Amino acid sequence: VALKQIVGAYGLVCFDKNDIESLVVARLGSPLCIGIENDAFFVGSDATPFIDLTRNVIYLEDFEMTELSSRSPIKIYNLKKNEFTSPNVETLKWNLESIQKGGYPHFMLKEIFEQPKAIENTFSGRLIYRNKTIKLSGLDDLAGRIDNFRRIIIIGCGTSWHAGLVGEYLIEKLARIPVEVEYASEFRYRNPIISQDDLVIVISQSGETADTLEALKIAKRSGAHVFGICNAVGSSIARETFNGIYTHAGPEIGVASTKAFVTQIAALQMLALKLAKIKNTLTKQEFSNYFDELKAVPAIINQILKSSDKIKTIASNFFNTKNALFLGRGFNFPVALEGALKMKEISYIHSEGYPAAEMKHGPIALVDEDMPIIIIATKKGNYEKIVSNVQEIKSRRGKVISIITEGDHIVKKLSDDFIEIPNSNEIFTPFYATIPLQLLSYYVAIERGCNVDQPRNLAKSVTVE
Ligand code: M6R
Repeated sequence: VALKQIVGAYGLVCFDKNDIESLVVARLGSPLCIGIENDAFFVGSDATPFIDLTRNVIYLEDFEMTELSSRSPIKIYNLKKNEFTSPNVETLKWNLESIQKGGYPHFMLKEIFEQPKAIENTFSGRLIYRNKTIKLSGLDDLAGRIDNFRRIIIIGCGTSWHAGLVGEYLIEKLARIPVEVEYASEFRYRNPIISQDDLVIVISQSGETADTLEALKIAKRSGAHVFGICNAVGSSIARETFNGIYTHAGPEIGVASTKAFVTQIAALQMLALKLAKIKNTLTKQEFSNYFDELKAVPAIINQILKSSDKIKTIASNFFNTKNALFLGRGFNFPVALEGALKMKEISYIHSEGYPAAEMKHGPIALVDEDMPIIIIATKKGNYEKIVSNVQEIKSRRGKVISIITEGDHIVKKLSDDFIEIPNSNEIFTPFYATIPLQLLSYYVAIERGCNVDQPRNLAKSVTVE
């Protein structure tokens, strides 16, 4: 009865303190896996924590719950269908290593291919298809206060900061609230001017990044309302924020962030649309169109992932370059920054990301036949201007690798290599343009013989400043 009233995503294990012989587990949105060995039960978000104790597992599906007790056999109850079924107990055959990599040669590649599912998990229990609404319980608590916020400040580091930049474009366009994006490390040391009129959103995959955690505490002490976008459930940042959104991307093991980034964008898309709804800044039709396109994102990413062989070939053409520039405009400017970060992290190629129009203000001096320039040149949003940026590069004999909208013959003709992505509203291009850039970095790093999962000098969680 209680579970039918719970809104949002969950993976639950509960017990009655007077009857600790029995556990009740339930899932909606968050993965939940049960391990069984004689009379012992193990519960995790996947099998890795207990794979050395048992190989017999049951994966719960959304809306399923069950009781785990040695007193009675397991029966799965489906809350939606109101029916009991017998469990499907699977015997895992893989060793610990391969179960974690899921058959992929590297965690990073596995995590790139997991992205459609990861985004579905971010959406689960939040995008309500039936009546086209968005349920974000963290924001619902705040609904009455949204009009009082003078501005939003988004804080993060590295890839999470890039997601924050996408958030700025999204929130300003859809909800018309001014947004500033800050590096946590700069914010914390410059005595920032913040007050209770500010909504501070901190973004962190790990929820443990030292600078982000400290920036959050400063914002909190200054009276701002602090909201988190985190992947790691129960992490320090998740605990310190008043409310927020878990991205539910699942564990990200590769040091280079991939699925964490796209799920942060998914969370920000929902947040921006929900803010727009509260502030009434979109027509019903506009909201409905955005909702439909957002819902389709995982399926479209699946389609883009099919071009991985072509991207591998492109990578083999330019893996021994020493430098690379990544360019994009508007919503694709943060994607260019993220593309450059990914490339430098795992392949050690010196890569810089820029807004394409900034070329003229300095970086164009670097362009010659040895300089590959990866340019996101999709049709929506300043298309003519980006075409002229491509022409400027070509006239200086630069090598252009473009990410274009399917069927765009103009940029295709100007490019040395190109990768097509489906046509979409410009607000969704960060999802689609990111995927080829992740694959490009991955294949370039492999060609160069780099350790993609554990690049030199980098840690997964930066818990010291
Ligand atoms: O866990 P966080 O999201 O707070 O981590 C922030 C950065 O350390 C992280 O995004 C880093 O830049 C990644 N290695 C990028 O791939």
